[in-house]
Amino acid sequence: MARKYFIAGNWKMHKTRAEAAVLARELVAALKDGRHKYLIAPGFTTLETVAALIKDSNILLGAQNCAVEEQGAHTGEVSVLQLKDLGVQTVILGHSERRHIYKEDDGLINRKVRLALKHGLDVILCVGELLEEREDGRAEAVCKRQTVEGLKGISADDFSRVTIAYEPVWAIGTGKTATPEDADAIHAYIRKVIGELYGSGAAESVIIQYGGSVKPDNAAALMAKENIDGALVGGASLESGTFVPIAKFS
Ligand code: PGA
Repeated sequence: MARKYFIAGNWKMHKTRAEAAVLARELVAALKDGRHKYLIAPGFTTLETVAALIKDSNILLGAQNCAVEEQGAHTGEVSVLQLKDLGVQTVILGHSERRHIYKEDDGLINRKVRLALKHGLDVILCVGELLEEREDGRAEAVCKRQTVEGLKGISADDFSRVTIAYEPVWAIGTGKTATPEDADAIHAYIRKVIGELYGSGAAESVIIQYGGSVKPDNAAALMAKENIDGALVGGASLESGTFVPIAKFS
């Protein structure tokens, strides 16, 4: 089965509304004839601005996180209901910055995944090992644990709305990319784990993005690998000059 490439930009904690609007307009114009699936995930405060600008485009709106509860006394959190109200279609969960800086564990991430799916949002579930885990030969085990725990209790039907992003932590924002071969090996392994959980059809169709210093000059080589179906792009997604060539790699 042919999988469609899915290129997503994670803007992290960057951009004011005016700056976000400039980039969103540039992307709408530049990607309108693009052949892949596209998503941008601006910060919460710029979601409404960006939503209005990309509404009739081929770019989906993503959020970078959501609260673990639907609503209530959770000072400083943003709920799935509030995200949906702004037109968000997809939420990124389990990003390594959430796991490692904000100490989100697999159990918490799993609850967020379930809540987002329950409310009809799609999910990009991020997994990936630390450098020391890779050096100890534990990259596969860590990715398996994060995948299995993150997807606990999720039906095969709901899983069809989940994308996995493999993001080795040592490659995020460091300029160090996994080699296409190393990345593909982990992608193949994650695909096998998905097969064990949901069967061979799901393993064949699941989209597994690579993330970690994806740049215009390495995107095509990564995407050429059999098991790499797209990219989750951080730094290079902040300017159209670097994101568009990735999004239109050939
Ligand atoms: P990077 O970030 O492209 O800046 O390495 C990727 C990510 O964190 O999703």
